[in-house]
Amino acid sequence: MGYEGFSGNETILLHVHSPCRLDAVGDFTPIERTEWVPDAHVHRLADTVPIEQGGNPVGGRRLLMYNGDIEVSVCKPTEAMQGFYRNGEGDEVIYVHRGSGVLRTVFGRVPFKPKDYVVIPRGTTHTFELEGHEHHWMCFHTPGEIETPNRYRNRYGQLLEHAPFSQRDFHPPQEIETFDESGEFEVTVRVRDGFQSYLLDRHPFDVVGWDGYVWPYTFNADDFEPRAGRFHLPPPAHQTFQGPNFVICTFAPRMLDWDPEAVPLPYHHSNIQSEEVMFYAEGDYAARRGVDIGSITLHPSGLPHGPQPGAVEKALGAKSTDELAIMWDTFRPLRLTEEWRDNDKPEYALSWNPDRAPATA
Ligand SMILES: [Fe+2]
Repeated sequence: MGYEGFSGNETILLHVHSPCRLDAVGDFTPIERTEWVPDAHVHRLADTVPIEQGGNPVGGRRLLMYNGDIEVSVCKPTEAMQGFYRNGEGDEVIYVHRGSGVLRTVFGRVPFKPKDYVVIPRGTTHTFELEGHEHHWMCFHTPGEIETPNRYRNRYGQLLEHAPFSQRDFHPPQEIETFDESGEFEVTVRVRDGFQSYLLDRHPFDVVGWDGYVWPYTFNADDFEPRAGRFHLPPPAHQTFQGPNFVICTFAPRMLDWDPEAVPLPYHHSNIQSEEVMFYAEGDYAARRGVDIGSITLHPSGLPHGPQPGAVEKALGAKSTDELAIMWDTFRPLRLTEEWRDNDKPEYALSWNPDRAPATA
């Protein structure tokens, strides 16, 4: 399997039987998105904690926002998938806020734990083994490729020594699982903006070996080596992944700006060409009042944003931060869904005005 025809990264998989073999063709179900068009263009806050648990690791995804480059869903699965899943039209990243388990793939077993980014290239047939009862994931789908930033790599593709992660931080599949078995195996493939179901009479995990550059892996946010400066460094210092017209960043616990005159917070800025979305994963986030763990802020294009009243005074003199946040910036506008609407907190738009903002800690 390979990208860009026969010119991109590829992997050779050695199957016992032809992977084309089908027993029956099932139904095609188009994806339905319920867009919410808000009345006003403002900064927004939503809490994902009250969203109910339920569903399986793919069917249980609740879409929050999307555009032509990215879809972002929250998933709190409680049940196993029926059969197997393969995304035939996009790469996926799952940020595991809560939960652990094993991503079982045609490449082998990929264990995952809290704070892992689970990166699943398109074409990877897989299923999930869930451990424990509490799962809370942020799921990203892109029709493009999930990559690490070019600027972290040398001309041969190896990660530079001063990149914020190293090849040892990327965990490939562990032992391969080979089932040379007959039976009834359902495989659901995401294609053409829908889900096509197939029935196989051979187990899809019949690979005895593989080698190449395409494989699922995990990278843990705790392994991101954060950067700090004498004065504030903007978000590219935290970049973890790149995709078409978007980036994913990890704001990891770190030392703060060390100049005696430094204001150790983001300066006010105008996202004139990006939508800045932040998921608050852990710690005490100094620049935001009333924003709890599991919340998401959306600072859309066209509006300035910055620390809220009181945040600067509170932050002066701070030496370090224990915050962990996952950010995705998209260069094209995002559409919101009814799932966001149901969790939207409209008072956030006024939270920079001390005369209008509700008293929050
Ligand atoms: Fe920002």
